[in-house]
Amino acid sequence: MWFLIMLILSMLNLVYGEAQVPSEHLGFDDYIPPFASVNGQNILKGVNYASGSAGILDNTAMQVGARIGMNLQLRHHQTTISSIERILGDRGSTSNLLNKCMYTVEVGNNDYINNYFSKLYPTRRMCTPEQYATLLIQQYSQQLKTLYNYGARKIALFGVPPYGCAPAMIAMHGTNGSSCVDFINKAVQIFNAKLILLVDELNNNLRDAKFIYVNYYQISSTVRTGFKVTNTSCCVVGKNAAVSICSPFKTPCQNRSDYMYWDTLHTTEAANVMIAARSYSAQFPSDTYPIDICRLAQLK
Ligand SMILES: *[C@@H]1O[C@H](CO)[C@@H](O)[C@H](O)[C@H]1NC(C)=O
Ligand SMILES: *[C@@H]1O[C@H](CO)[C@@H](O)[C@H](O)[C@H]1NC(C)=O
Ligand SMILES: *[C@@H]1O[C@H](CO)[C@@H](O)[C@H](O)[C@H]1NC(C)=O
Repeated sequence: MWFLIMLILSMLNLVYGEAQVPSEHLGFDDYIPPFASVNGQNILKGVNYASGSAGILDNTAMQVGARIGMNLQLRHHQTTISSIERILGDRGSTSNLLNKCMYTVEVGNNDYINNYFSKLYPTRRMCTPEQYATLLIQQYSQQLKTLYNYGARKIALFGVPPYGCAPAMIAMHGTNGSSCVDFINKAVQIFNAKLILLVDELNNNLRDAKFIYVNYYQISSTVRTGFKVTNTSCCVVGKNAAVSICSPFKTPCQNRSDYMYWDTLHTTEAANVMIAARSYSAQFPSDTYPIDICRLAQLK
């Protein structure tokens, strides 16, 4: 099974967005090399363009400093395509290769946390969650069409998880008696609903491509129920839990696999492994739409 998938994929997996999805399920035995350091023939093993704090919108997370948003990630992909053309010698075999690749994109979460729900941005005063989701989806739609024009034909899109349940968001906004920050979860679900519609639209209009939606929101919500500790981070983040990043030189929790969150925003490897497994091979029909990554990989 693994070997079969590797052949179909021609060993190329391109990763976009903020975080990397473990590619072991697709038969890769190592991490996909990052764009910043990939060189020579290694580029044919795939490229990871992902960047911490990356957003759909260019100005998302500008307060954190250097980061590579979706638009710049797409320009990096153009650079990759030129390098592949130099290695393979011509355009035809380059597009044949690009057509067979798996593309995974996980982006949008920072456009909420480090933009819409950040006091440093005026977006929440300027538009409703509905209008903001529409704005994001319009921009994202353009970016995905660009990816298609560059040769992408198998594209897995991750929705936004229930960030209102992250300890940092709870510390920052309070829960008003609920178990999570409901207005954040409601806002990202509006985005997710529109993303499913976008998947339908792209599949209808770009008939030789297949886009799928990974229901990261649902997968994360159910994975959460399996952890002993979900209301605090494994690492030490300092006095204020609203600051999400781990303090240096502090001993983290003894048993990290009991924790859903590593810092107060990002999930532990234990959680990520489960999320990746279910995006690859759906446990419930609603985990992915219309098919899971395993079946996407097998398409001709
Ligand atoms: C808090 O919860 C109550 C009851 O559900 C609701 O009426 C109110 O709007 C909530 N307040 C905020 C700030 O979300
Ligand atoms: C997390 O939950 C545990 C058990 O329910 C509780 O004892 C603890 O105070 C909570 N911690 C925070 C930071 O809310
Ligand atoms: C850590 O957690 C795992 C899973 O809950 C458990 O099997 C293991 O015994 C725990 N180890 C320690 C040292 O608590």
